[in-house]
Amino acid sequence: MRRVTHAAPLIKVIVEGAGIRAATVDDLESIRRIYNEGIADRIATLDSDPKSSDEIAQWWSAHGGRFNVLAATVGERVIGWASLNPFSHRCAHADIADLSVYVDREHRAKGVGYALLVRLTAGAVALGFHKIVLHALDSNEHGKHLYRKAGFIEVGVFKEHGRLDGKYVDVIAMERLFP
Ligand SMILES: CC(C)(COP(=O)(O)OP(=O)(O)OC[C@H]1O[C@@H](n2cnc3c(N)ncnc32)[C@H](O)[C@@H]1OP(=O)(O)O)[C@@H](O)C(=O)NCCC(=O)NCCS
Repeated sequence: MRRVTHAAPLIKVIVEGAGIRAATVDDLESIRRIYNEGIADRIATLDSDPKSSDEIAQWWSAHGGRFNVLAATVGERVIGWASLNPFSHRCAHADIADLSVYVDREHRAKGVGYALLVRLTAGAVALGFHKIVLHALDSNEHGKHLYRKAGFIEVGVFKEHGRLDGKYVDVIAMERLFP
């Protein structure tokens, strides 16, 4: 069955006809394509190998309920996605979510990432989250700029926190609290 796309207009987005809606299982191949672009670009994540369909299906199974996934679309095409991810299995951390956001290469720097974050953070408050945390490569200036613009503040930088292509890289932790 085809999915129904009721995509609400994006805020300040400069991609004509773009909208944001809840992602569905039908979006997984698009989510995978966009995520794998971020992996290939070596700016987004410590993951270095492209994700398989099985791995993305496994990722999807850890979502749903409070851990929602949004898709940015132009018509039927998914051009970006963002998700609230489980942060920890500990009850004490139940009100904390982790965050991911990825926009396809063709549509970056056009307001899509910001619109996804605005919608995702508003949804997180409605879902009862107290805080969102994220970890990004400290060299990802575009990502850090986006996060600061969306109200995240720097917690600190883990030095040489992982190896990418054989080289140690720094990882920044950021957070946004919802008082
Ligand atoms: C990081 C990412 C999600 C941002 O989404 P986007 O749609 O490209 O960002 P936006 O267009 O909403 O821009 C947000 C801000 O970043 C700025 N920006 C845009 N392109 C930029 C660039 N190349 N370098 C630095 N800042 C840039 C914008 O100007 C805007 O700030 P402003 O309103 O103050 O001008 C997207 O570029 C992406 O998917 N990158 C690869 C994956 C990734 O890095 N994900 C984050 C993992 S931590």
